[in-house]
Amino acid sequence: LMAEKGGYRHFMLKEIYEQPRALADTLAGRIREEQGDVYLEDLALSDEELGGVAKLNIVACGTSWHAALVGKFLIEKLARLPVEVDIASEFRYRDPIITPDTLTLLISQSGETADTLAGLREAKGKGGKVVAICNVLDSSIARESHGVIYTHAGPEIGVASTKAFTTQLVALVLFALKLARVRGLLDADGCRALTDELVKLPRKIEEALEQDEAIEEVARLYMNASDFLYLGRGNQYPIALEGALKLKEISYIHAEGYPAGEMKHGPIALIDENLPVVVLLPNNDTREKVISNMQEVRARAGKVIAVTDHDDPLVRDNADQVLVFPSTCDDLMPVILSVPMQLLAYHIAVLKGTDVDQPRNLAKSVTVE
Ligand code: G6P
Repeated sequence: LMAEKGGYRHFMLKEIYEQPRALADTLAGRIREEQGDVYLEDLALSDEELGGVAKLNIVACGTSWHAALVGKFLIEKLARLPVEVDIASEFRYRDPIITPDTLTLLISQSGETADTLAGLREAKGKGGKVVAICNVLDSSIARESHGVIYTHAGPEIGVASTKAFTTQLVALVLFALKLARVRGLLDADGCRALTDELVKLPRKIEEALEQDEAIEEVARLYMNASDFLYLGRGNQYPIALEGALKLKEISYIHAEGYPAGEMKHGPIALIDENLPVVVLLPNNDTREKVISNMQEVRARAGKVIAVTDHDDPLVRDNADQVLVFPSTCDDLMPVILSVPMQLLAYHIAVLKGTDVDQPRNLAKSVTVE
């Protein structure tokens, strides 16, 4: 079994460390450097069909739903196409509006999640086009979709999704670029600006993994907390949700992800000296607003763990711990800051002695409703 785990103590850790390779595989053969375009071999929709799409629904469960939330930011920003995101178990019963120019995108690691598959059938049954982002080749969702973008992350055994998630994010970037090119909203140079950063991502994830020990130290400090709050804004809000989900799933500590700007409308009441607050702090336009949230937490004796790509006295003065990661363009920062979310949850779970790869009550793939 140790051999299967490639010398790692758990599949989850192995899969976290496989991310540089997995992300490179998601990108392989899909960037057309010369044309400044991307190529998605199994998408099956012509440029004309893609160009005729008026609205996109993204439907998924669990971690894949968090990827969908990031996808909304990417696609609306780059391709200016309206995107609605649904949890599959809600979508399937809410009589969603599907017209012939609606495209529905299912995201599923396994391609077998019952609610997501039902969402696919709902959209297809109403005459809409459907495409899927899947990891497992030839899975039900991949087979029943008109087109598919495989993530090529390789088998994911740990119940808590890691490399499947970050490769979904990269597949969404590729899809957003494709839509933006087809819709005439991005020229070849604009596309290359982002694909050049994509190509550097595997190396940057390797660098991010070098913070493993620093993250383990933070895990030791807070492993006995009974609740965690995760804050992020914009495209980091879904990463806050994902960080909280990872912690819940494998360490059984209650955790909540919140949009940082919404803290004042509720979660601020929970803050005291026993509450660690993980703050996603990319170096972007909202940085100072998020730092003021950190000040609000500390003014109430809460503990701030800042996760950032830009270390300066302003962060140091307003955080108890600072974890620093490589920078990239803002659209790709969710991929980089996912790594500390995974490792923090992993180390806390290991320190608590839980069954990391097979947490209680959870299944890798939920194939029944
Ligand atoms: C289960 C797994 C999660 C996963 C979710 C959706 O709950 O434990 O890790 O995110 O299903 O799975 P899917 O295969 O559709 O991405």
